[in-house]
Amino acid sequence: MTATALPASAPVAVIGAGTMGAGIAQVAASAGHGVLLHDAVPGAAAAGRDGIGRGLARLVDKGRLSAADREALLGRITVVERLADLAPARLVVEAIVEKLEVKQQVFRALEDLCGAEVILATNTSSLSITAIGAALARPQRLVGMHFFNPAPVMALVEVISGVATDPAVADCIHATAGAWGKTPVRARSTPGFIVNRVARPFYAEGLRVLQEGAADPATIDAVMRQGGGFRMGPFELMDLIGHDVNYAVTSSVFAACYGDARFLPSLVQKELVDAGWLGRKSGRGFYDHRDAAAAPLAATADAAPPPARVTVSGDSPLLPLIAARGLAHDRADGPGGVEVDGVLLLPSDGRTATEVSASLGDRPVVVHDLAGDWLTAGRTAVARADQTPAAALAPAVGLLQALGLEVSVIDDVPGLIVTRTVAMLANEAADAVLQGVAAAADIDTAMTLGVNYPRGPLAWAEGIGLGRVHTILENLFTTYREDRYRPSALLRRKVLGGGRFHA
Ligand code: NAI
Repeated sequence: MTATALPASAPVAVIGAGTMGAGIAQVAASAGHGVLLHDAVPGAAAAGRDGIGRGLARLVDKGRLSAADREALLGRITVVERLADLAPARLVVEAIVEKLEVKQQVFRALEDLCGAEVILATNTSSLSITAIGAALARPQRLVGMHFFNPAPVMALVEVISGVATDPAVADCIHATAGAWGKTPVRARSTPGFIVNRVARPFYAEGLRVLQEGAADPATIDAVMRQGGGFRMGPFELMDLIGHDVNYAVTSSVFAACYGDARFLPSLVQKELVDAGWLGRKSGRGFYDHRDAAAAPLAATADAAPPPARVTVSGDSPLLPLIAARGLAHDRADGPGGVEVDGVLLLPSDGRTATEVSASLGDRPVVVHDLAGDWLTAGRTAVARADQTPAAALAPAVGLLQALGLEVSVIDDVPGLIVTRTVAMLANEAADAVLQGVAAAADIDTAMTLGVNYPRGPLAWAEGIGLGRVHTILENLFTTYREDRYRPSALLRRKVLGGGRFHA
């Protein structure tokens, strides 16, 4: 499909000159468009333009933009105080307050002001494109153009079609976002679109592990960062986003999905919202941001003696690391794990270590977490079975330390931290494919560019093995008996039929 982007000569209007509108105006002007910038609050559009100017000045100082280019870019942004002045625009991008009736009212007014061929794009992060369009005379001209914050920096744009959106309009915005230097993905208008839907388990699983008392926020964050390879852990990210915003997104997706347990909001997070502990912006959230010195440390096991000799059975995910570190080891058949001093160290399969040990006649068992890349991981989480003596942790910890990893000993929660999070992200992504929200490739692109995941959840699941991910989910589902953990029917089908998400 080779749709044509809006030509750079076409005037673009941006309405709402706050955080997002100013950023979007900068992006459009950078691509060469004349931009009309409007805000309902007198002076706000001028302030928005001034803010863009200051941001560009910093780029000039850093030598990343010439002073002449800064002037030219700013010169293409015209502040207009009246809505009627947006009439010449061929594309209007709306980034005003997140209220359905207000957005509908503004778009209705724009329909009267602009020509019939104008494309109306909304940057809404949570409202239905279909519902906004329902108030319009020409809903086929309305499309979602969802940028991420900060718009000039973040590459992703979700292009969202409502029921009435003309495919040619979505194609044009897709091509236009590309011409603006962005990476567009297509999505159907459904709660949370791609990123805000598929990312829910990233927060939810961390919150669940915390709620069950298995580990504290600093430990969970460190394991997700240093083990999972995520840029930030869930708690530091929620503190950055703000708990009011993050909780509202979860609650809105939950409500929009008629209370699907998949998206059940967390009481732990609600407590913070109720307390006004909104994160960085209020000085306190899961962390106390008023005193950097008081930052809590991740639970880290003391140094344990390195193992004398280990036996690797089956295809333990630790084997490449053991080989890379030159650790002497024997090979044996058996479950994919490592035996060290009579203790079996196994990757989490979504069961508790206690259940695994019981299934093996109460053998001493320690389970370890998943890593994004064992060769670069700096930490992993482990848990021991209830029937395994505490002393059995030392050989397992000593082995992992000998492999260069810091070890966080956590309580025996099913799926530990990274394992359950990645499995649930992949599960959500699979359901999004199943329900026609977006294509697998677009979902993986969206999650790597929109929220900086180290890998797209579906490609990641394929790397782990879809069968194994399905087993992890089945085990979580069996343990909790909660609908939240039901494996996606599409994932199950791919496993049974030997299919893949990516060709
Ligand atoms: P903001 O509060 O920074 O800016 C909104 C601006 O719109 C304000 O300057 C306000 O005066 C103006 N405004 C409000 N009602 C208006 C009206 N009827 N006509 C003209 N101007 C009006 O909000 P922000 O964060 O820029 O969000 C704007 C939109 O972008 C919302 O729909 C939000 O959901 C969405 N969004 C926000 C993201 C974020 O991280 N902040 C990310 C992606 C989307």
